[in-house]
Amino acid sequence: MIRINENYLKLRSSYLFVEIANRVSSYQKENPDAEIIRLGIGDVTLPLPPACIQAFQEGVKEMASDSTFRGYGPEQGYGFLRDKIALNDYQALGADIDSDEIFVSDGAKCDTGNIQELFATDIRLAIPDPVYPVYLDTNVMAGRTGNFNNGRYNDIIYLESLPENGFVPFLPETPVDLIYLCFPNNPTGATISKDSLKKWVDFAHEHKVLILFDAAYEAFIRDPDLPRSIFEIDGAREVAIEFRSFSKTAGFTGTRCAYTVVPKTCMAYDERGQQHSLHGLWSRRQSTKFNGVSYPVQRAAEAAYSDAGKTQIIEMVDYYLKNAALIRNEMASLGFEFVGGENSPYIWVHCKRDAWEFFDLLLKTAGVVTTPGPGFGKCGEGFIRISAFNSYEKVEKAMVRIKDALSG
Ligand code: MLT
Repeated sequence: MIRINENYLKLRSSYLFVEIANRVSSYQKENPDAEIIRLGIGDVTLPLPPACIQAFQEGVKEMASDSTFRGYGPEQGYGFLRDKIALNDYQALGADIDSDEIFVSDGAKCDTGNIQELFATDIRLAIPDPVYPVYLDTNVMAGRTGNFNNGRYNDIIYLESLPENGFVPFLPETPVDLIYLCFPNNPTGATISKDSLKKWVDFAHEHKVLILFDAAYEAFIRDPDLPRSIFEIDGAREVAIEFRSFSKTAGFTGTRCAYTVVPKTCMAYDERGQQHSLHGLWSRRQSTKFNGVSYPVQRAAEAAYSDAGKTQIIEMVDYYLKNAALIRNEMASLGFEFVGGENSPYIWVHCKRDAWEFFDLLLKTAGVVTTPGPGFGKCGEGFIRISAFNSYEKVEKAMVRIKDALSG
């Protein structure tokens, strides 16, 4: 008799965005003429930047000829892309990261989900609430939690992000081994200052803690004082791993390319207290389970660092930020309190009522899809997340419809 991994039975029945997609598609079935505007899942709508498309096409052409064809690439990514990432995303910020500390992958979702394989099952985990569900669900699957009770898993230390702390959690008060952080935050859109991030890095040094830092939304930072990477903070090389993605930066959600930075100085310990390089372990994991991102896609990602690519990406992100500003203005004019949308594509709106009910109201009376806060955790009760990823025209229309729905 084949037995299942019973940790899967602890999971809530479906992944958040699948649950929302199901609700939206059953509403669409019942109302085939309704024109639905999607401000739910953070999926980009603008096409890839022309510089990336051109490099993508050239990469495909190379695959079509005997003399330039490539088979398996290096599991960690091609040097041409890793060098550009190290130079532009780290060394240019004064962050001491080498290209061989960069692991190119097919998504930050996969990497933030897979990284927990490197750690013991009985480590003490601190996870933000609200949170991108992948961090939590993958640890549930791995057996690091108890059952789900009253909106929370047993055995997790929840780091609450609430209006009271400006949506930046306080340092844990109980002992922890592994901390997940995400800034600019998904789902709240909140950002963290260099001084606050330094406190987390110092805490990690003091308590031998590892920080998993998800910076998938760093391209949305426009405030020059905010850190784009945890490696801008002194001491982070010993205590942090960072995840980045081309998805939201350059429109690669359907194309798939991301990377994870594991500094060679970042260590974890065995039962005897002996230290091991996480770089070595992650490299071992990736070379066993992963065969790299396709060559044309890596060429397309490389083009994001060309002069034309950089300019086009800034324009793209600015476009979404303009949507975010419109959402902020309209929500303010309706009297809602919110955070995010300034250095982030997400606006976290305090709807001050049951969030799933508010989600249903916006879907059924305005035809607008949002994401209910409780899908991201207990601290999301009373909040919805509005995503700025759509066309400006549709965002404008969605805001008019929401206004009408709420005043009608
Ligand atoms: C979100 O909407 O939270 C993101 O699009 C999900 C993801 O990046 O996987």
